[in-house]
Amino acid sequence: MKLTSKAAYQEAWAEALNSPEAFWDKVAKEYSWHKPWDKVCSGDFNSLDIKWFEGASLNITENCLDRHLETRGDKTAIIWEANDPNEKEICLTYKELHADVCRFSNVLKDQGVQKGDRVVFYMSMVPELLTGVLACARIGAIHSVVFGGFSAQALAGRVNDCEAKIVVTCDEAFRGGKTIALKAITDEALESCPGVEKVLVRERTGAKVTYKEGRDHKLMELLKDASTTCEPTEMNAEDPLFILYTSGSTGTPKGLMHTTAGYMVWAGFTFENVFQMEENDTYWCSADIGWITGHSYITYGPLLKGATTLMFEGVPTYPAADRFWDVIDKYKVTHFYTAPTAIRALMACDIELVRKHDLSSLKVLGSVGEPINEEAWEWYHKEVGKERCPIVDTWWQTETGGIMISSLAGVTESVPAHATLPMPGIQPLLVDAEGKEVSGSPAEGNLCIEKPWPGIARTIWGNHDRYKETYFTTYPGRYFTGDGAKRDSESRYRITGRVDDVINVSGHRIGTAEVEDAINEHENIIESAVVGFPHEIKGQGIYAYVICQDSSKIEGENIQKELNAHITKMIGPIAKADCVQVVSGLPKTRSGKIMRRILRKIAAKDTGDLGDISTLLNPEVVDEIKKGAGL
Ligand code: WT7
Repeated sequence: MKLTSKAAYQEAWAEALNSPEAFWDKVAKEYSWHKPWDKVCSGDFNSLDIKWFEGASLNITENCLDRHLETRGDKTAIIWEANDPNEKEICLTYKELHADVCRFSNVLKDQGVQKGDRVVFYMSMVPELLTGVLACARIGAIHSVVFGGFSAQALAGRVNDCEAKIVVTCDEAFRGGKTIALKAITDEALESCPGVEKVLVRERTGAKVTYKEGRDHKLMELLKDASTTCEPTEMNAEDPLFILYTSGSTGTPKGLMHTTAGYMVWAGFTFENVFQMEENDTYWCSADIGWITGHSYITYGPLLKGATTLMFEGVPTYPAADRFWDVIDKYKVTHFYTAPTAIRALMACDIELVRKHDLSSLKVLGSVGEPINEEAWEWYHKEVGKERCPIVDTWWQTETGGIMISSLAGVTESVPAHATLPMPGIQPLLVDAEGKEVSGSPAEGNLCIEKPWPGIARTIWGNHDRYKETYFTTYPGRYFTGDGAKRDSESRYRITGRVDDVINVSGHRIGTAEVEDAINEHENIIESAVVGFPHEIKGQGIYAYVICQDSSKIEGENIQKELNAHITKMIGPIAKADCVQVVSGLPKTRSGKIMRRILRKIAAKDTGDLGDISTLLNPEVVDEIKKGAGL
């Protein structure tokens, strides 16, 4: 259902609110199903047994691939652009992609993978990551992609949590001018993963890596000999499709579980309506498939809608800071979707790097992952979109499966730094600290969602109680997003950022507790508190306050290096601290809770009023910390 006017959007939003069953019934009928549903939706945010299209059966890859063969068989499905601009691209038509996915499906089956088994992918952005994910979906296995920037320990934690039987990796990854030793890291991780029976290795750099007899196999050799036909496995609507790990305020990363039919309908519907593509357009989302953006808007969304989607192995600054613009020019990209952190980084470079490229193919620009500041929005609009292209600022989360609040390109208006309007099916509401709804406009509060939508994650893998506790307990009966938001007088939303202990570093979600755990592993650290602070390029940086056992042992610079080595080992380089301050104590309430509000202000070099500190157990420490921070 493509909504192509503002009136159509408004009508759809109202219909999805008033007659959700009739509305989603219509949307879902655009796809092919083995068996239709008995009931469109059931369950709510109290019982937490949410189901969509119950009773139906389908296979999502038939909708991504087979369904297009007759009408779009020779259309390009995937364009793959290598890290090195001199390496030839790979283009796969829908027919070829279908064949490759079938090959991979047969390889997985030969390796003993069955319906319901978990397959972990720890790869770079090679075409086999995308075909591998789809191959899992084709045979009913559950994929769990772990971003290639995570450490061995982080990988092991995820592999064990979902009890994966098989891991697919690369010998090494190319990443700009560097390589990442994915297989070596996998080997290290698997020392503590006794459940893994098989490892498939996609050779990429040709580095010499070790193969463990009986366990490890060369992926490309297996694919070469595999059959290009594989019947799709019939899946129930609520069968799991994938697990994706993400960080929260507390504890270890959570494996959000998405199911088949609801996720499919949501990914397809949001992709079609937000981006408003036409048949011959070329779409490029610069995310990594290791994140939810790459699942919904490189893989499933575009393929469900028969689009041409570009997959990029490299980074925006290699070989030079005009790589994005070069790629847009090279493939005449019409729809470009990236993160504010990339925009801010490129904005800081010589403007000629943008201006020397022909970007006239562009029609729509997208932003995702963190709030986009006005300056970056204006620059993106002017220098990249030449003031011709609407910008869709898409707010959503790993948990939501797809875009929740965004303008529809060229259909509803774009407003600088505002995500603007909810998708049909989404009822956002703002609540105050006491959980009372803040009605009317303008307003500000914590962002909740009132009712289940098709794409919501159904549980945290293996821990339904934690699912309930994390999302539905702060404001009972409502989904709490963890974000704050403002609503303007025209009911358009502006996301202001996380209100919990989650930091958004370059669009990556980092849990402060996880970083603290890593820091506390250091023998000289007694206690630590990690907060986010405003960072010009990354959006937020990581600031760590640490109490040392023996402060005479530390020299300022070394401690940061040493702590970052611990963080890199336990989480990965993406969570490194930008700032480390040694303190003698942390401001605590009488009940022993760290007052992060104060630490956040100091980290932000905010010299204003710190608020009431008289209730602190140790108010004297505040002045010391301020001084140490140079305030
Ligand atoms: C968090 C979710 C959604 C895919 C990528 C991140 C922040 C995301 C926006 C936006 C302001 C945004 C929120 C959210 N966020 N998009 N357009 N404007 N903030 O997924 O890793 O699950 O992170 O990213 O804080 O809660 P994620």
